[in-house]
Amino acid sequence: MSAYSSSNPVTISTLNEMKARGEKIACLTAYDATFSALESSCGIEVILVGDSLGMILQGHDSTLPVTMEDILYHLDSVKRANYGSMIMADMPFMSYASEEQTLENAAALMRAGANCVKLEGTSWISRSTELLAERGIPVCAHMGLTPQSVNRIGGYIVQGRNPDKAEELIKEAKLLEESGASMLLLECVPSELAKNITESLEIPVIGIGAGVEVDGQIMVNYDLLGITQMEKPPKFVKNYLLEASSIEEAIKNYVSEIKEKKFPGIEHSFK
Ligand code: KIV
Repeated sequence: MSAYSSSNPVTISTLNEMKARGEKIACLTAYDATFSALESSCGIEVILVGDSLGMILQGHDSTLPVTMEDILYHLDSVKRANYGSMIMADMPFMSYASEEQTLENAAALMRAGANCVKLEGTSWISRSTELLAERGIPVCAHMGLTPQSVNRIGGYIVQGRNPDKAEELIKEAKLLEESGASMLLLECVPSELAKNITESLEIPVIGIGAGVEVDGQIMVNYDLLGITQMEKPPKFVKNYLLEASSIEEAIKNYVSEIKEKKFPGIEHSFK
């Protein structure tokens, strides 16, 4: 049973309070009503309608083809069945390329039921973050490995391993917090760097492939259930269905292991 409900939903304040008392935040993607309801009832604090749907549901080899219409369609299903989790919606590739597009597209997501929007980038998204925050839209800044930039990065590669790049990421994380970001998401960075960033910021930091010393964890729901077309899943993925007798039990175990700091282990983290 979840502690949250439609009359007691997770908000940005809930997440800030959790960070302050050291309680870990459990986040998971969902793209449809059935998973949304199940994840809410299992105590997932933040449900992400992620552009990973381009790879997971649509079979593309990257998230780049995902459109605003795609996110809005899945957000609508997730929103309808959710009771109590915070819903974060991804702003797809090129949907925040200009200030006008940023405002218009973020507004569309919020009107469709998102409680927060997620943008990938570093200092170049600080102006967008500021514009949205000023207008009352909570922003999660996604840093580290940013899949929308896979062509520029040259692959799905761990970020911040070199000391100069690590220093740059710390500065950029602080800049995004100062610009008004309500949350940070760190993907595929060494655990020590993620810990350093988490301790330097007041806002909650959610990790995927960022070690256990962040404020919360996120995973793609299909990965958590071992449903993948990949020969070898990424290092940060754990298949919770292997030791559970139902999908519900698998999600509940994921939540418990996050809260108890058992997930991610060092085998799911990067040095
Ligand atoms: O789109 C997505 O699902 C994501 C997660 C991998 C964090 O951004």
